[in-house]
Amino acid sequence: MTIVYDIFLILHFVGLASLLGGFIVQMRASQRVVNPAMLHGALTQLVTGLVLVGIYEGASIDPSSPLNQTAIGVKLVIAFIVTVFVMLGRRKEESQQQPYWAAAGGLALVNVIVAVFWVA
Ligand code: HEM
Repeated sequence: MTIVYDIFLILHFVGLASLLGGFIVQMRASQRVVNPAMLHGALTQLVTGLVLVGIYEGASIDPSSPLNQTAIGVKLVIAFIVTVFVMLGRRKEESQQQPYWAAAGGLALVNVIVAVFWVA
């Protein structure tokens, strides 16, 4: 089962790259929008994150090091908010998408910090 877990962890990193890459690539743009890379990245993070938790707990990937459930809960809420911002932003006129771009990208970065310093 570890190999399946590792494959989803790789997909989790691909989603992260898409979400943050889509955000960063527009930093110097005059009109910053929520691009498809951010949308697909946010959805990938939500789905792969939930699958990772399911496999980790269900298959007892590393019983000596249980996941911090509080931190996972915080990550889930933040990822959900990121996804909502991304979806709302995509519905707006391009000229009005910048606040959604900024909020989604900023919160995605917060989730990286939570993942590195708190979950593990
Ligand atoms: C914007 C959303 C997210 C971002 C940016 C993000 C980021 C990350 C990063 C950078 C890691 C690697 C941490 C490390 O290996 O030290 C990670 C791992 C992980 N994430 Fe996420 N994540 C997000 C959403 C989620 C969600 C929604 C869940 C589940 C509810 C989740 C569950 C996990 C789990 C279980 C791991 C593996 C922890 C381990 O094996 O030690 N993530 N995430």
